[in-house]
Amino acid sequence: MSLFRLDASILPASSASRSLADLVEAEWTASHPDSTVTRRDLAADPVPAAAWADAVTGGFVDEAQRTDAQRAARALGTTFADELIGADALLFAVPLYNYGVSQHFKTWFDLAYTDPRIDPQGTALRGKPATLVTVLGGNYAPGTPKEGWDHSTGWLRRVLEDVWGLDLRIVERPFTLVGVNPALDAFADTARELKENAETDARTYGRELAALRGDQVA
Ligand SMILES: Cc1cc2nc3c(=O)[nH]c(=O)nc-3n(C[C@H](O)[C@H](O)[C@H](O)COP(=O)(O)O)c2cc1C
Repeated sequence: MSLFRLDASILPASSASRSLADLVEAEWTASHPDSTVTRRDLAADPVPAAAWADAVTGGFVDEAQRTDAQRAARALGTTFADELIGADALLFAVPLYNYGVSQHFKTWFDLAYTDPRIDPQGTALRGKPATLVTVLGGNYAPGTPKEGWDHSTGWLRRVLEDVWGLDLRIVERPFTLVGVNPALDAFADTARELKENAETDARTYGRELAALRGDQVA
């Protein structure tokens, strides 16, 4: 058995997304104590910004005509795809940054998506069980002043669930900046409740992930 875990927080020492992903992973490990956990830390080991364009343009020419950079980029994309395809279950921990998706995650996603095995028509990932943990400093719920400003979570759901076809559950914890930013002190009770809800979801979805829900496993 194997789990692939990706982390994208740039502040690992205080990371709320990592803490929640740890809860998911703990449920997985409890059910599969001998399982392999393959980790990719996009903050410690970021994907080079030029890799995606190199991989794409390298795909437009014959192998013999590719530059070293194009070959390296395509090989890295293959490694990413191997990690996804080879795992029985997937766990992603991705914060909201600057009202959009983490650029570390976007670069990783784009490069993995250059692998021909991972495309909307392909079956390589379709039905594979996955959990996304996402955390947001603010609160973007309906009726809040910043409703509609979270341009990360919707995109993540679209590409992971609809494009890659994963059997996805999402653990979401808003208001992680309550207790950090004094301007948000009035929301302490709401933030505590949202944190507890997210922890409950992380344990529940972790158990479901460990049960390997989904139509297809590696
Ligand atoms: C550079 C930076 C930009 C951020 N931008 C936003 C933002 O646009 N909206 C928001 O709600 N929170 C924002 N945050 C807050 C993070 O989403 C929040 O701190 C989250 O908990 C970070 O994930 P982590 O705890 O796993 O590291 C930002 C944080 C950093 C460090």
